[in-house]
Amino acid sequence: MNFENILTTSENGIATVTINRPTKLNALNKATIQELHMAFEALEKDEKVRAIILTGSENKAFVAGADISEFADFSVSEGAELAAKGQASLFDFVENLKTPVIAAVNGFALGGGLELAMACHFRIASDNAKMGLPEVSLGVIPGYGGTQRLPQLVGKGKAMELIMTAGMLSAEEAKTAGLVNHVVPQAELLELANSIAQKIMRNSPLAIGKAIEAINANFKDGVDGYAIEIKNFGESFGTEDFKEGTGAFLEKRKPVFTGK
Ligand code: COA
Repeated sequence: MNFENILTTSENGIATVTINRPTKLNALNKATIQELHMAFEALEKDEKVRAIILTGSENKAFVAGADISEFADFSVSEGAELAAKGQASLFDFVENLKTPVIAAVNGFALGGGLELAMACHFRIASDNAKMGLPEVSLGVIPGYGGTQRLPQLVGKGKAMELIMTAGMLSAEEAKTAGLVNHVVPQAELLELANSIAQKIMRNSPLAIGKAIEAINANFKDGVDGYAIEIKNFGESFGTEDFKEGTGAFLEKRKPVFTGK
């Protein structure tokens, strides 16, 4: 696929999506959000892709936020539409993918950038990364899910403080807070993302997709996560992956999962 604002590569079952507007610190304009949607939609359909890594180009920014120049003159209804469309086409979309998405946060992840990282299934960061939701400093609030996902990840009190102060966490602080899982020097970031992706790929893609859905259900209003877990657990027994996984264990060999 050819895009203007993102790069995609795919190798041995691992796809890497790189947001590529370095002169604007990879800020998310409308076109970039649209391209990301199209890329993730295609990667989810591609059975060969077992894990996706999302990162930013060059070494300064993952994403420095939504593109401020695009919404500075928006009205109330345009603002609401921006958030609703963005959440549906990218942020909720990524969170609900069955293919695991790892955010490799390689620099500033601010505003919509941190919101995008938080919509991924988990995050790792380079030691120069800085993360925050500075929207109130612009007179607006986080609109791509930040007020919901940040407290889920770090707790209500920490989220309140970070959002109200428009502050930034260092990579180590973000790790301590539970926002990122690992911090490594920048040169090792993609290597680590790839090695985690490889561990994921040893397991049943079908079971992973069902686990993502069940974990996400814990955070959805009006959805009984335990009921989703029971349903998905039961469904697993009807898959070839389950027969292969249990069969391989009993035969003392490595399983070969097909995702069926
Ligand atoms: N939207 C649009 N453009 C952005 C942007 C954003 N969120 N973040 C950075 N840019 C652009 C800058 O306008 C600048 O473009 P220019 O060279 O055409 O003027 C370019 O990216 C480089 O940014 P600059 O501010 O010069 O880099 P810096 O090293 O001095 O500062 C930041 C880095 C991240 C601290 C600063 O860019 C910043 O505060 N960005 C906005 C963060 C934010 O509020 N995000 C939430 C948006 S809702």
